[in-house]
Amino acid sequence: MNTFKEVHGNRGGVDHEQKTLKLDEEAIRKAASADLDDGAVTPGYGPYRDSIVKLLNDALATELVCVLRYKRHYFTADGLESPAIAEEFLQHANEESAHADKIAERIVQLGGSPNFNPDSLSERSHADYDESTDLKAMVRANLVAERIAVETYRQMIELIGDKDPTTRRLLEGVLAEEEEHADELSDWLRR
Ligand SMILES: [Fe+2]
Ligand SMILES: [Fe+2]
Repeated sequence: MNTFKEVHGNRGGVDHEQKTLKLDEEAIRKAASADLDDGAVTPGYGPYRDSIVKLLNDALATELVCVLRYKRHYFTADGLESPAIAEEFLQHANEESAHADKIAERIVQLGGSPNFNPDSLSERSHADYDESTDLKAMVRANLVAERIAVETYRQMIELIGDKDPTTRRLLEGVLAEEEEHADELSDWLRR
């Protein structure tokens, strides 16, 4: 019977007979030498890089709109429970801003260009801006936006899969925080 190496040459993979996992040495050599201007982006990202950058730019727009919505709510929250809930809005605003930074940084690492253009921000965002004046309506609008963020990140993680593990891990971290945000807001709604 042929050995794994005879069948696959230098290509990596799983040799079920020998129970070994083997790296694709040819791809590693190619990654080291080709397109050094691309920095951290190796040819393995290849065909998916542009669509990953597009997905990330839409997520960036969403995070920026969420910062603006939470800030608006933070400064205008009024009423009996407003100091505590306003603090929550501010904390979320700062966390959404940190998400935006991480996403923009990843777009640049991938050789893309982060889109901060305010003219098209709300069109590109998955979640909406909101100018509610009532505390409950604010909480509700934020909860809707968080649920949109959760579903968007969940889908992105599924789509990206093993195509770009670094981006996937980043998004998994962001998703966990969006789920926390949604939880905190639904607790407020139940009070
Ligand atoms: Fe976020
Ligand atoms: Fe969030």
